[in-house]
Amino acid sequence: MIDLLIKNVRPWSEAGPRDLAVSNGRFVEPTGRDGDAAATIDAGGRLAIPGFVEPHIHLDKVLINEDVRANKTGTLTEAIEIIWERKRTYTKGEVAARAGRVIELAVQSGVKHLRTHVDVDTIGGLTPLEGVVAARDRYRDLLDIEIVAFPQEGILKNAGAESLMRKAMAAGADVVGGMPFNEASAVDSWRHIEIAFELARQHAAPIDMHVDETDDPGARTLEMLAEQTVRNGYQGRVSAGHTCALAAYPEDHAAKVIAKVKAAGIHMITLPATNLMLQGRLDREPKRRGITRVKELLAAGVNVAFGQDCVRDTFYPFGVADSLEVAAIAAHAAQMSLPHEIDTVFEMCTTRAARACGLTDYGLELGARADVVIVDAKTPVEAILKRADRRWVIRAGRVVAENRTERVLHGPGASGDLSVERKKTGKGGDR
Ligand code: FE2
Repeated sequence: MIDLLIKNVRPWSEAGPRDLAVSNGRFVEPTGRDGDAAATIDAGGRLAIPGFVEPHIHLDKVLINEDVRANKTGTLTEAIEIIWERKRTYTKGEVAARAGRVIELAVQSGVKHLRTHVDVDTIGGLTPLEGVVAARDRYRDLLDIEIVAFPQEGILKNAGAESLMRKAMAAGADVVGGMPFNEASAVDSWRHIEIAFELARQHAAPIDMHVDETDDPGARTLEMLAEQTVRNGYQGRVSAGHTCALAAYPEDHAAKVIAKVKAAGIHMITLPATNLMLQGRLDREPKRRGITRVKELLAAGVNVAFGQDCVRDTFYPFGVADSLEVAAIAAHAAQMSLPHEIDTVFEMCTTRAARACGLTDYGLELGARADVVIVDAKTPVEAILKRADRRWVIRAGRVVAENRTERVLHGPGASGDLSVERKKTGKGGDR
């Protein structure tokens, strides 16, 4: 019995359109007879992907700019102080509620898997983690969420953080995080990374760190991470987010570090929205662009993905957890404009991000879980430039979101299709 037949989709990277059939939540061979299906969607030749993968977001901090005091100096230092104040007021329920609002946006945008960092420090204790775990439980039928235990305030610098990290890994975190540059010395940064590997090995967990999120060309923790990745035999299981300092290095040193990253199989995750906003802020012109060396890393054969990072917190006032919006920002920031480069940008929030998160079941193959997003476009380029509607978001064969934008231009000589916009969205429908 076919539960759902999706006719005439154009799976990305395949030559032509075909049908997808779902039975018991998994892709099966279509029978060729429409009448065999309990429900049918005519995709009209639209692009189909297994869903977007958001590899780096902070669900515990999202939307806090709605109720924090004003940043009087406009500095990053004060933004951090405001977060500390706000974090002391967190409760499990309100963290879960804020996270839930952004999770719903992500689902509507076709995100099937999301990896969130969650602060683990002595300011908020385990409350941020407990809130995000509650949100993960609530939405588990809509998307998969991985939680990174993130020592935002350092491990050695924040006495008590190491013990909290151990508790976080026992209380629902899946991935060991880190922020080795946020320590008092290079020796402590090295030890920070060592502690993360000890913990990761105990839990057989991957590692995903915030690395060198600074314009300081003297920052060296990406090299440290690469060296310890190889020493621990963790090649392919470590991700490094931000890595802005790599862009500030002299060319010869950057080339050396990129070679180490490649040898360590580190997945690089650039966060162009936040870093364009934050990095180079104190530069006189010409200002630095704020993101890592995306093109050089790709050319060296390193896996590079991108993520949203912040959604309306004290660092970044925008963000709707939409991979296509971040794709457009990434393409601009990394100057990826040629057709094949834009295809690569699209990979960075789909296949490449899936690899960074270690997903082994990402695809539209027979037998795979029937997760598919039908995008109102024929190509990745069109999807990004139009921020195309995710017409149907399907998880395990069930439609979990629909989007349909209507644009109508009124007036003499109008050919239609431009101005007035209404967005309709449904969630949880059964088609
Ligand atoms: Fe981040």
